[in-house]
Amino acid sequence: MKSKDTYNYERDFLCPTYSRPPVLFVKGEGCRLWDAEDKGYLDLVGGLAVCSLGHCHPEITKAIKSQSTLLIHTSNLYYTEAQLELAKRLSNLSFGGKTFFCNSGAEANEAAIKLIRLYGQGRHTILTAKGSFHGRTLATLSATGQEKVQKGFSPLVSGFKHIEFNSLESAESAIDENAAAIILEPVQGESGIWPVEMDYFLGLRELCDKYELLLVLDEVQTGIGRCGHLFAYQGYGVEPDIITLAKGLAGGLPIGAMIAKKELADLFTPSSHASTFGGNPVVCSAALAVLSIVANEGFLQDVRDKGDYLKERLKGIPSVKDTRGMGLMIGATIDRDAKKVVADCLERSLLINAPTPQILRFVPPLIITCEEIDEAISILKEVLK
Ligand SMILES: Cc1ncc(COP(=O)(O)O)c(C=O)c1O
Repeated sequence: MKSKDTYNYERDFLCPTYSRPPVLFVKGEGCRLWDAEDKGYLDLVGGLAVCSLGHCHPEITKAIKSQSTLLIHTSNLYYTEAQLELAKRLSNLSFGGKTFFCNSGAEANEAAIKLIRLYGQGRHTILTAKGSFHGRTLATLSATGQEKVQKGFSPLVSGFKHIEFNSLESAESAIDENAAAIILEPVQGESGIWPVEMDYFLGLRELCDKYELLLVLDEVQTGIGRCGHLFAYQGYGVEPDIITLAKGLAGGLPIGAMIAKKELADLFTPSSHASTFGGNPVVCSAALAVLSIVANEGFLQDVRDKGDYLKERLKGIPSVKDTRGMGLMIGATIDRDAKKVVADCLERSLLINAPTPQILRFVPPLIITCEEIDEAISILKEVLK
């Protein structure tokens, strides 16, 4: 198959939910991808913040290979060692919570929403931020603070109130006797890379304590080293009650995880929630391999340093009006059509992404080198000339 064949397949056999260029990728290694015509690309998208260790990292491949020759799936009617080990590791690395495993970010947030409902015992309102993104299932798109994601899917799931991002006043005025939780991304990803402010984060924790609300962090995109800390909340020193994870956790295999403080997690009972595939031994083995590399202070420091380096280099481009972000989750506002810039970069063998019309998003594999960053910047400079 060749890249040009994608058009007919898309037209005849795929639901048209994506708009993508006619490029057929066949191979990946580190921060590089190759298409069917053997053209190489430098990848600063990383499977949308998923391929945390780059493409086909030998440790991940080894873990997948070795687990898949032993046992691939049992369902959650039975235990597997990889799932148990991963749950223990996540507990020790976070706040001592218990994990529910599923297969995606939206599913992890669904699990959190169900747990909030059990906690609330009738108090069921969840506050989420304008501009947030929490997934595309019905409950998570209702939680999402962006009308464009919700358009056409009414009636939405009730029980969500959207507050101003980074405004404590807005949060406090939205809290009433029905409020049960606040769900927040430490850095809003899909709306253009907008980090929470430190005072806001600390203030939200205080508000949640005062009104007995749960503080739930959607770390689907920010987690697993992306922001230079294993979990972004660790960079703020604010402890949440629940976190949700997905993207980077298994380095490219589909996984979702909701980690809740023990007393909350124990509100679930057998069959109050479940997933056939969740916590499958192959994906859990891949996740253990990812954590064995990412959950090290030296690695995380390196992510912070490279993030600073990338931001500095971006600032040196005249068309870049503003840069922001944490670790290797970086946004840049530019003075022209970002989609066109993405297309021009693709043409020149560089993959970047534009979540909104004037914002470029950089979520490269965490193993990217400064030389690769320089290479990307010189292509970008050329395009933005
Ligand atoms: C913060 C956040 N939450 C949830 C999701 C949904 O994850 P998934 O696409 O795996 O369902 C995303 C995806 O981009 C995300 O960025």
